[in-house]
Amino acid sequence: MEYKLAFVGIGTVGQALLEIIISKQDELIRDYNIQFSVVAITDKILGSVYNPDGLNPKMILDHISAGKNLDEFEGAENGWDALKTIEESNADVLVEVSFTDVTAGEPATTHVRKALECGKHVVTTNKGPLLHAYNELHELATKNNLQIGFEGTVLSGTPVFSLLNSCLQGNEITEIKGILNGTTNYILCEMEKGLDYQTALQQAQDAGYAEAVPDLDVEGKDALAKAIILSNVVMDVKLDISKVPCEGITNITNEEIAEALENGFRFKLVASIKKENNDVTASVGLKKLPLSDPLSGISGPANAVTFVSDLMGEITIVGPGAGKLPTGSALLNDLINIHKATSRSI
Ligand code: HSE
Repeated sequence: MEYKLAFVGIGTVGQALLEIIISKQDELIRDYNIQFSVVAITDKILGSVYNPDGLNPKMILDHISAGKNLDEFEGAENGWDALKTIEESNADVLVEVSFTDVTAGEPATTHVRKALECGKHVVTTNKGPLLHAYNELHELATKNNLQIGFEGTVLSGTPVFSLLNSCLQGNEITEIKGILNGTTNYILCEMEKGLDYQTALQQAQDAGYAEAVPDLDVEGKDALAKAIILSNVVMDVKLDISKVPCEGITNITNEEIAEALENGFRFKLVASIKKENNDVTASVGLKKLPLSDPLSGISGPANAVTFVSDLMGEITIVGPGAGKLPTGSALLNDLINIHKATSRSI
């Protein structure tokens, strides 16, 4: 079965998916009978290219690596913006990997809505639409018999939604607590080793963990956005983001971290969401956890989430929360899920 993909955004994450599509081509046919054809790519900075018969992903990656704009890519149509690409291309699936705007969720939310209105499935790692319009988009997808995959919005390819949907079916999730931001976890770990805050932040930026505006990380807003997504999707409650207490790591000192450790504790930036009597509350803040707590042992840029459920008690999953291939892996998994869901309904 062939799926035609249209990419909106071709930054690190979009390029990762192209690389994966190339490298996994044989396995995808052998194991799932899937072939992906990239028909359109549009990017605010890197230009656009459309060929209804399919583009060569290797040539696209080489073109971008050479520093050339996609509007100069020959043998295809150029100059299509995101909306024209979504509305007029012959793609079956929109890969929405444009930049994340957590404040308004745009233009990504419009892209996803438009794709679902035009009969296209969606896979995305963009937190904006899930944060601001999860219910609306989920209902639209269901109404139009389409799939929307968003595993990569929380913990990149480390399974969160897939774990809940596949392995914890029938469980009621009563609490979620986790380290949802790699940059801050990295900084806290480095500060524990004696590094100062600024140097640790710089290292996180150099390594590519931090957001383009690192305030989002260090002030807890990235973790908050992910907590709200978890609340929307898992608890089915749309919390008012402005009312959720949110504290970052900007005030912690090396001395406080060292003293906590001497007493058997570690500071972690923890996001928690709790359901009690159908009332859902959430918060993001520094917590002094005993060293025996599973979240206490999470080091470097890794992320972790503990789910508390009525039937299973506590389950903690640990893994990368960011990074090129892990985020590309989330998209690939979402695409394979679309194939499984649509093959079932044929
Ligand atoms: N800046 C984020 C982090 C990247 O550090 O976790 C993934 O959302």
